[in-house]
Amino acid sequence: MPAKKSSDPLKILIRRTEIQKRVQAVARQITKDFQGQRVHLVGVLKGACIFLSDLAREIDLETSLDFIAVSSYGAKKESSGQVRVNKDLDSSIAGLNVILVEDILDTGLTVNYLRRILLQRRPKILKVAALLDKPSRRIIKAIQADYVGFAIPDEFVVGYGLDYAEKYRNLKDVCILTDPALTKSAPKPSATPRRKKSAKRP
Ligand code: IMP
Ligand code: MG
Repeated sequence: MPAKKSSDPLKILIRRTEIQKRVQAVARQITKDFQGQRVHLVGVLKGACIFLSDLAREIDLETSLDFIAVSSYGAKKESSGQVRVNKDLDSSIAGLNVILVEDILDTGLTVNYLRRILLQRRPKILKVAALLDKPSRRIIKAIQADYVGFAIPDEFVVGYGLDYAEKYRNLKDVCILTDPALTKSAPKPSATPRRKKSAKRP
């Protein structure tokens, strides 16, 4: 079965060539910011795996990788406001220059939670890189990415790692899911996070 059928409710939002250029620019910035140092990329599975793979190959520094898996949206588009770690990191991040790599910053609940648990592990520094940012959806206002690929409007998007019910992760472009029943992102969850943390900019 092909990655995308002509009947799929998809509209291209960001083309592969634009993504490639922007990923290169973000990697250049990281290379500059961490000149001569090692960086440790922590990818949030599964959505960030494709962004991380491309980003890692464009960073001109000693780079190591690890992954953490969390569940937030599952097969639905609704965020429960609860984040659960399904797979933890393989190794310690103490003393490392950690860049948490996310596919998209939406409500900010996931990154807020991950920042909190990762900071407890005493990295030297903790930055956040997100391919996409939907600022209008943010619940945790203080959560910002230090490195952002693209700010996008409030649309549900798939492709380049992002899924809807596990579909479309392997699309090369970022596409809006245009099904009339799905045109807007899920309603913001009502859960109030326990603690707010501000993200440090580079
Ligand atoms: P947050 O916790 O609300 O910021 O959501 C973060 C996670 O929700 C992302 O890592 C994605 O897995 C998922 N998500 C948010 N918006 C979208 C979208 O437009 N398409 C696909 N997944 C999304
Ligand atoms: Mg994700």
